[in-house]
Amino acid sequence: MFTILTGSQFGDEGKGKIVDLLSKDYDLVVRFQGGDNAGHTVVVGDDVYKLHLIPSGFLLDSRVLIGPGTVLNPEVLAEEIDMLGNTGVEVSSDKLGIDAKTSIIMPYHVELDGLRESSRKEKIGTTKKGIGFAYVDKIARDEIRMSDLVDSERLMDRLTEMAASKEAAIRELGGDPSIVTDTELMDKYVKLGQRLAPYVTDVSYEINEAISEGKNVLAEGAQGTFLDVIHGTQKFVTSSSTIAGSACANLGVGPTKVDEVLGIVKAYITRVGEGPLPTELYDEAGAHLHDVGHEFGTTTGRSRRCGWFDLPLLKKAINLNGYTSVALTKLDVLSDLDVVKVCVAYDLNGERLDYPPEDTSLLSMCKPIYEDLEGWSDDLTGVKSYEDVPRAARDYVEKLEGMMGVPIKYVSVGPGRAQTFEK
Ligand code: GDP
Ligand code: IMO
Ligand code: MG
Repeated sequence: MFTILTGSQFGDEGKGKIVDLLSKDYDLVVRFQGGDNAGHTVVVGDDVYKLHLIPSGFLLDSRVLIGPGTVLNPEVLAEEIDMLGNTGVEVSSDKLGIDAKTSIIMPYHVELDGLRESSRKEKIGTTKKGIGFAYVDKIARDEIRMSDLVDSERLMDRLTEMAASKEAAIRELGGDPSIVTDTELMDKYVKLGQRLAPYVTDVSYEINEAISEGKNVLAEGAQGTFLDVIHGTQKFVTSSSTIAGSACANLGVGPTKVDEVLGIVKAYITRVGEGPLPTELYDEAGAHLHDVGHEFGTTTGRSRRCGWFDLPLLKKAINLNGYTSVALTKLDVLSDLDVVKVCVAYDLNGERLDYPPEDTSLLSMCKPIYEDLEGWSDDLTGVKSYEDVPRAARDYVEKLEGMMGVPIKYVSVGPGRAQTFEK
């Protein structure tokens, strides 16, 4: 079985939590795009793991893979392996594989990201992890790949070839170009290459073999649908394709192999960074979602902007991903609100729209049209089954399900593994 899981909104929907929960049923859990801009939180008992690169299936028996469509900062990966090692989770090469073609995020990518962001009049609010610049190099065929990193001679050849153009790019943005050939940094990368060499693999081959042997493979999306580089809210997006179809292209698995596409949907909506968020709240309800939901970015610690559930965006996410089912997360955060609102359509200059306009500047002009639903005051965090969810909260869940037209398979009412049940 091959399942693809993606975020349906602007990221941070709770993908990590759901992947951790599902991974007991999967032999392979695979990241297919993005890099350490992602922050996936997995809570097991009192332990909290914040993962940026290693797929969230690492805690159970699954083998985890990093696919060639990702961009990988080897320093961050080494730190993650150490962090897990210190908590008693050994990340051996039996457990983790990295595709030989994976693009490496170099220090100059991180530098360029920061410089470019500060030079922009209208900011994107990137995570400054070098993601965009690493993807630029991949498309320009100027990237350093995992197979270069692990071979010090090839790494040095690639760097020598690239140095002048990278130095010029940094200089043009007013930065210090010495970072490109800094010998200490280069030594560090050579050492990182030696350390990570045992993990190198062919991800497409592994996945296709596993599927043909009847094993189960889960593709774990990073970011969210509206951060997609093609279909998102340009220019306020990330630099990879985040939607379900991207998993096939990035992993080298044919679309005929896909069995399920699971959408992770937060019961409200959040966004970190700039760009339109039609239902954004600046009132007490917004403060409630932010505070009760602990809405701070996992990667950058920035406050997440919060808003009511946005149905037009979700309808588009369903089209873009072809979801076969949904996991609804953070329902517990809505407790104690007198009224819970759902944005059912937009008003754009007096016209009612049931579906988002394709142009980002028009989306930013859309005003939400809300339907009010009755709130509930019961604490949901200890609820163990759907039957025990209070009526008003069930009405909310069923209203969303009816409007989305996709079955809600799981409901999540807290960060812990046990705080999830099937609907
Ligand atoms: P991801 O990027 O999609 O994996 O999501 P993040 O991990 O960045 O953000 C989701 C946050 O919400 C994390 O801190 C999770 O521990 C937490 N979380 C996940 N599901 C739930 C839930 O159902 N209720 C509550 N209260 N917190 C949740
Ligand atoms: P997870 O996987 C939320 C946002 C950044 C910025 C934009 C571009 O945890 O859901 P980038 O550094 O990618 O060039 O920044 O994308 N962004 C995320 N927002 N969750 C994420 O990942 C994100 N990864 C990037 O805030 O607006
Ligand atoms: Mg996150």
